[in-house]
Amino acid sequence: MSKTPEAVAAAERWTAHNYHPLPVVIADAEGAWVTDVDGKRYLDCLAGYSALNFGHRHPALIAAAHAQLDRVTLTSRAFIHDQFAEFCQKLTDLTGKDLILPMNTGAEAVETAIKVARKWGYLVKGVRPGQAKIIAMEGNFHGRTTTIVSFSTDPDARDDFGPYTPGFQLVPYGDLAALEAAIDENTVGVLVEPIQGEAGVLVPPAGFLPGVRDLCTRNNVLMLADEIQSGLGRTGDTFACDDEAVVPDMYIMGKALGGGIVPVSAVAADQNVLGVLKPGEHGSTFGGNPLACAVGIAVIDLLRTGEFQERSRELGERLHTGLAKLIGDGVTEVRGRGLWAGVDIDPARMSGRDASVQLMERGVLAKDTHGSTIRLAPPLTITADEVDWALEQFHSVIA
Ligand SMILES: Cc1ncc(COP(=O)(O)O)c(C=O)c1O
Repeated sequence: MSKTPEAVAAAERWTAHNYHPLPVVIADAEGAWVTDVDGKRYLDCLAGYSALNFGHRHPALIAAAHAQLDRVTLTSRAFIHDQFAEFCQKLTDLTGKDLILPMNTGAEAVETAIKVARKWGYLVKGVRPGQAKIIAMEGNFHGRTTTIVSFSTDPDARDDFGPYTPGFQLVPYGDLAALEAAIDENTVGVLVEPIQGEAGVLVPPAGFLPGVRDLCTRNNVLMLADEIQSGLGRTGDTFACDDEAVVPDMYIMGKALGGGIVPVSAVAADQNVLGVLKPGEHGSTFGGNPLACAVGIAVIDLLRTGEFQERSRELGERLHTGLAKLIGDGVTEVRGRGLWAGVDIDPARMSGRDASVQLMERGVLAKDTHGSTIRLAPPLTITADEVDWALEQFHSVIA
């Protein structure tokens, strides 16, 4: 008898219903595959919303975690541990920035970016006290804190969580004229996802990110790139900004930085930006802990080979070529880059939820968003045959 219904009911019974998961209960995982409590295998085409870019339990990452578990796991930042400098140094190397500030979750890294940009605005740019403004994009997703949802345009994320934090202005994603018009003498930062993941993998028009860079430079405003979902190999480059050779003032990273093992996030920026923080002004008990740094070092070592970026580019082309063939046959639009796709299902055929349930029944795990979009973001370790197999399942479900 299947153990799944009882396990699903138990999960429903004991938790707040802030998620609507697919009815699959995972017990084991390796590489791109997971196995449920009944022994059924699934190809993971969500990869923890890109937290599992290197697959489940990548041997190098697991080895680093095990080795660290046997030595020291937490010191707090009251002391220095022996993994800290190496992690930060390697991350400065990867980002080309002077300094790193490690945190845990993505939302905390975004909060860090907001605080640093505001402080930079007051101390360096000379904005009058309490007047700093950050411009964000409509359709954004930067996390779930009260400040971050204050500038969300998604009613589910924002409604009934006020009072809201002031100091943010929204402009349409991809609209440089609107951004230019919104920038004033109090603007300290522009917060942008290089590709909007949660919004449905929206790729901005070519030239948008270079345009943001240029406007920020000309107006003495910090460009804050939220690469939490788009970065670390997902789009075929180390950072999605690399595609148009854009270098933001701050990289905001998370998800895959923890290798799918521990929450690790960080911001990277130069001394003239991150240097505004002094002891006691910001921090986190777990931020930059020894286990996080040990895993993070192993993650950066994997990224430095370039292998995963290349896999994402090559296999992403295969994925997008296959998905493009479905347009007009149950699919209305496909967006994305590398091994990352937002696929709009023809609502006349079925809802996104129905499509993900049917994909699950066929052994493919993916997740719907905004009613009729399916997001595909498999681990970058997926093989060409597995991509083809996932496409076959997709075709059977929606055609
Ligand atoms: C672009 C982006 N920023 C921030 C976050 C928030 O990260 P976390 O859930 O780790 O707080 C996410 C999560 O999906 C994200 O996609």
